Amino acid sequence: MARDPGRVLIFDTTLRDGEQSPGASLNLEEKLAIAQQLARLGVDIIEAGFPFASPGDFSAVQRIAEVVGGVDGPIICGLARAARGDIKACADAVAPAANRRIHTFIATSDIHLEHKLRKTRSEVLAITSEMVAYARSLVDDVEFSCEDAGRSDPEFMNQVIEAAIAAGATTINIPDTVGYATPAEFGELIAGINANVPNIDQAVISVHGHNDLGLAVANFLEAVKNGARQLECTINGIGERAGNASLEELVMALHVRRSYFNPFLGLPADSTKPLTGVRTEEITKTSRLVSNLTGMAVQPNKAIVGANAFAHESGIHQDGVLKNRLTYEIIDARTVGLADNRISLGKLSGRSAFRSRLEDLGYSLEREDLDDAFARFKELADRKREISDRDLEAIVSEQVQQQAEPRFSLKSVQVSCGSNLQPTATVTLTTSDGAEITEVSIGTGPVDAVCQALNRLARVPNELVEFSVKSVTEGIDAMGDVTIRLRHQGVLYSGHAADTDIVVAAAQAFVNALNRLIAGTAAQPLHPQRTPLPALGDLPLAERPRV
Ligand code: KIV
Ligand code: ZN
Repeated sequence: MARDPGRVLIFDTTLRDGEQSPGASLNLEEKLAIAQQLARLGVDIIEAGFPFASPGDFSAVQRIAEVVGGVDGPIICGLARAARGDIKACADAVAPAANRRIHTFIATSDIHLEHKLRKTRSEVLAITSEMVAYARSLVDDVEFSCEDAGRSDPEFMNQVIEAAIAAGATTINIPDTVGYATPAEFGELIAGINANVPNIDQAVISVHGHNDLGLAVANFLEAVKNGARQLECTINGIGERAGNASLEELVMALHVRRSYFNPFLGLPADSTKPLTGVRTEEITKTSRLVSNLTGMAVQPNKAIVGANAFAHESGIHQDGVLKNRLTYEIIDARTVGLADNRISLGKLSGRSAFRSRLEDLGYSLEREDLDDAFARFKELADRKREISDRDLEAIVSEQVQQQAEPRFSLKSVQVSCGSNLQPTATVTLTTSDGAEITEVSIGTGPVDAVCQALNRLARVPNELVEFSVKSVTEGIDAMGDVTIRLRHQGVLYSGHAADTDIVVAAAQAFVNALNRLIAGTAAQPLHPQRTPLPALGDLPLAERPRV
């Protein structure tokens, strides 16, 4: 059996693989807010990003290492391709953390070797030994991944794993990169590694997997039964394509079905020892934070964190639950921190009550941002009698989302519309150099008119690919939360905003997306898995060509 930490380690990759979801890119403040909440959630390892991707990614990993990587905090990890430049950038970025890890990877499947890496098996073996040893010369904790393990020849992959451990890897990660495996196969793959890699007892076995066939969580649970002791997952299951295995589903499966899994971890079936270090009551809060900041809505029927996950519609079910919760519920909603959407603040609440409630919700704002958010709260409290946690989350996530130096700020928006009227919008923006610019436009509806006016002002070609509005709370005075996604040169940029007036929310969300687009096109980060190795591998970050 592989080196066993005595429980299942949770490796969160929301900020790395999760951020690879189209349109989910996060700014530094957003990444920091999520990392702080992940630490509260109690994950063991935070994969904070891919430092070699761009100077912005490097700084974000470094800042997370400084702020969240204390002695008692989680391990802060960065991703690096198996190339010197990547590994050095990663070591420098995670350096401020007391507990730090370099996660380096190379593909082991023949499909990737032939078409992506254009390397032979022996070259891959040699690179693995050399790069793992190099990473190990920089940090004590090195994770090595066999990319596309799910489609690799197990015999060759086992040789690569043996070489990686011999060179100093302390965790071996087995990714089902394309979400191809089925649970029984994935379990067998892990069992095979345990049985056939001679030095496997010197490393923790980890798994990573994508949800292309909806099997990622099931695959991971089979892997645990066969000796995997680290699970790489994301909040709300976000990530490349169909996403990654979802953290909340894995943690709650191991929690609710503890007596089933205990024996696989060498524990008596009735042991009550938690199988992960996650504080389950923080799950709902973390899910909302990630959804608000990435603009990626959670489907209502999503297990554990969907809006309907604890709702009973049928009369028979409601009646049963009222008689005894256990009739139709396997999880008490409070276990995942789902309290009533409580009315937290009102018109008379002061700044310190506001700040402290925000901190409870996972947001810590600096002075100026706090002033702005407090002003928005007061404005809202004038219009809406009772302000709930969801309202506060909507206000503040918009605040955190703002770019440090946005190109445009929304000054005002007015629309006229109604039966037998041509919808017309007048929009005024303030530019970063202080100028005020105004445009009037007609459209098929008020939101279309606003978007057209904004496009004329910004003059950045883009295609609107998503416009969604949802109400933050119930009630006629509820705020509308608008998410907008714009496509520019094949890349998605999202913006969201909330207001009791949905036209204002739409205008603000559009401006936020435009600002991200403008900032994003100036610095397009490198994708860790889609960029060839040798051409860029050894270049220091500063000398890396723009792609
Ligand atoms: O899916 C994958 O293979 C990855 C690796 C970089 C671990 O994300
Ligand atoms: Zn992945």
